[in-house]
Formats: sequence, C-alpha cells, structure tokens
Amino acid sequence: MTDLYAVIGNPIAQSKSPLLHTAFARQLGHDLRYEAILAEPAAFRETVLAFAAAGGRGMNVTAPFKLAAAELADTLTERARAAGAVNTLKFGPEGILGDNTDGVGLVGDIQDRLGVSLAGRRVLVIGAGGAARGILLPLLQARPAGILVVNRTAARARALAGALESAGRIQGGPLEAAGGREYDVVIHATSAGLNEGEAPAVDYRVAADGLAYDLAYGEDTPFMRQARGRGAALVVDGLGMLVGQAAESYRVWRGVLPDVRPVLERLKLA
Ligand code: ATR
Repeated sequence: MTDLYAVIGNPIAQSKSPLLHTAFARQLGHDLRYEAILAEPAAFRETVLAFAAAGGRGMNVTAPFKLAAAELADTLTERARAAGAVNTLKFGPEGILGDNTDGVGLVGDIQDRLGVSLAGRRVLVIGAGGAARGILLPLLQARPAGILVVNRTAARARALAGALESAGRIQGGPLEAAGGREYDVVIHATSAGLNEGEAPAVDYRVAADGLAYDLAYGEDTPFMRQARGRGAALVVDGLGMLVGQAAESYRVWRGVLPDVRPVLERLKLA
C-alpha cells in the first residue's frame, strides 16, 4: 500500500515540501504519496486528526500552525520542546509524536554540505523569534565556543538564552551587544529584510574562514549583501536548510536519511 504524507499550512501553494519528499522517495525507491493541505486556522486540529485517521503516516507543519502542532502532539522530542514548535508530526500506534527538524537541517547544512565545523567556533545569531528559537538547541549541541543571540527586543534574546543555559554556552542581549567583534559563524534569523527591506543594523565582522548564513532563501538577500561587506567569504541563503529539514523529517518517518545534494542542486536550477 502507498504510504501517505502531507504538509499542512495556510497559505500552502508556495510550499516546496511535496517536491522535496517526492524527490527523496524516488531517490530511495519508496512508494509514497505526499500532498499539500490548506487548512483554515479553526480547522487545523480536526484536519490533522482526520488525515491520521485516514491512514496518514506523517505530516510537515508550516506557518501558522507550528505552535498548534506542538499542542496537538501527545509526545514531543527534546528539540521540539526547546524550539517550542513542531514542524514534523509522526502518527503511530503510540499516538502523535511532535518533532522539530529545522535546527538539525541547519547544522547538517553548515557542517556536512558547507564543511564548516561549529565546534569551538564563535557564533552570532541575529533575531530571537520563532525561527531563532527553532535552531538554538541543535546549534549548542554542536559545541561552539559560545553563542551570542542579539535581538531588537533584548528581553526576548535574554529569555531564549536563559532557557538554554544548561545546554551550553549561550548569552542574549540587544543588537548592540554584537559589539563590532569578529565571529566565525553569523546566522540571520529575523523576518526583517524579507521583502526588499533592510537587514537589522548589527555591527559584526566575519572571520576570513567564517560563514554568514541567512535562514531565509533568495539569490541575494539584504543580509547576504550586508555580510559580504563584513568580511564573509562564504555567504549562503537558507535553501540548504530547507532541504536538510525535509530530509531529517523523512528520516524521522521512515528511518533512512535521503541524500540532500542532488535534490538541492535540482532546486537551485528550478
Ligand atoms: P519568525 O518566526 O520569523 O522568527 P517572529 O517570531 O515574529 O517571526 O520573530 C521575528 C524576528 O525578527 C524577531 O527577532 C524580531 O525582533 P523583535 O523580537 O524585536 O520583534 C525580528 N525583526 C522583525 N522585524 C525587524 C526589524 N525591522 N528590525 C530588527 N529585527 C526585526
């Protein structure tokens, strides 16, 4: 029987998840069907439960339902709890598991595809909203020398860092806390500059062998332009993370990690 999966969100037409998972299945010779489901906010819960009842094996969850999915799940993984959000649901006999694969997708993209080791490195994360929160625990687990989270609203950055203190060296503060210092890896996680706006004005430099990473994707985002002026030789958008989080979701569901590279190459050409 064909296994059934879906991504749920609102809007959903822009989602690349069906393309990614269909490509993974083809690569691995798996027989599965993957749909995109548009849900009205009031109908999120019943739509998920109906999909599971109809034999669905798993779902990806995108905006605006990642928090609702965390509430709906019977069990949360540690990384989903730390993220406070769920992007992957797995339906099984023991109930609904909620997971979050964003951070692992990012760390895998940085270390495995881009070949930049995080261990012992100085990491700056700009932004303390949902996107930042989703990646911090997996980043800390890669054992950097330290992570500084800076945000326009300093209290949000401090709260995020405070909640993760036991997992590694992490501090939070205002945008100015970046202090014009040099970092090995700078990650942009704000929603500023998505639509032709400006990246937040943060004073940092990037080490010559360092990396500047925008979680958003696009050929040349405002943050990418900013980071090139701060010494970064390696400057990338978040397309690799997008494929990486999908691959990790696939592994959560089916126990095998697809090869992200050919799928990422195809996506870049699309
Ligand atoms: P997301 O899920 O995309 O992270 P979010 O939770 O609303 O969305 O968080 C948006 C992030 O972008 C926050 O870090 C926000 O800063 P504040 O916490 O101070 O609001 C940041 N952000 C949005 N617009 C910004 C701007 N113009 N300048 C600086 N930071 C901005």
